[in-house]
Amino acid sequence: SRTFAVIPAAGMGKRMGASINKQYLQLAGMPIVARTISVFENAPCIDGILLVTPADEIPYCREHVVDAYGFRKVVDIVPGGKERQNSVMNGLRALQGRMGEHDVVLIHDGVRPLISPELLQESIAVARACDGALVAVPAKDTIKTVRDGFVIATPDRETLWQAQTPQAFRFGVIYAAHLAAEQEGFTGTDDASLIERRGGAVRIVRGDYRNIKITTPEDIVLAEAFLAGSGQNGAL
Ligand code: CTP
Ligand code: MG
Repeated sequence: SRTFAVIPAAGMGKRMGASINKQYLQLAGMPIVARTISVFENAPCIDGILLVTPADEIPYCREHVVDAYGFRKVVDIVPGGKERQNSVMNGLRALQGRMGEHDVVLIHDGVRPLISPELLQESIAVARACDGALVAVPAKDTIKTVRDGFVIATPDRETLWQAQTPQAFRFGVIYAAHLAAEQEGFTGTDDASLIERRGGAVRIVRGDYRNIKITTPEDIVLAEAFLAGSGQNGAL
């Protein structure tokens, strides 16, 4: 059986406020998205990578990321869509001919470069056994539900987890869920939610607080500190 990764990297990086798309910003001397891809490239459990970028960045990304770093597992780069969900769907569509229904696909944000190879492996194992695997960490803060500036609820913190990526699924399960969401006009902020809404069983894989999504400028500082702390200036 084969295991592929879909890496959505087709956002605009608005919250970063940089002059270039955040995924090309340097993190300890390497573009963020290249660092992310390198984790999958070097993981024996991954057979291939499908990269999703804005349509007009495909040539740039091929030259300055895929070819520049010699990533041999990247089988294709396809254009993204309006929302992250649309970008992931474009990636899944491009994988369709290459994957069997029971092969596992990992979906991982292009801007989460600090993912560990161990979590990839654990996610794959869990995805084989249920409808989906979701890397997440327990919420540290108390989380409030707020409407119009007033608190309307305080969910029990013991039940709250922060979703990260990768999220891993058997291909048939996630493709059907994305297709249904598209047809029904449902937009979720992550992939697991598309399975949950259909009653699927998504199991938590306990993640790592260092697996941050690079979103705003302070995240670069944090990520560089984590990399320095790992002592190898590379994979954690
Ligand atoms: N993404 C995507 N297609 C979109 C939107 C987002 O592939 N239409 C990807 C981003 O490139 C990123 C991941 O989804 O790797 C997580 O999204 P986010 O952190 O929100 O990135 P951006 O959308 O680029 O940033 P912002 O929301 O600040 O504009
Ligand atoms: Mg976004």
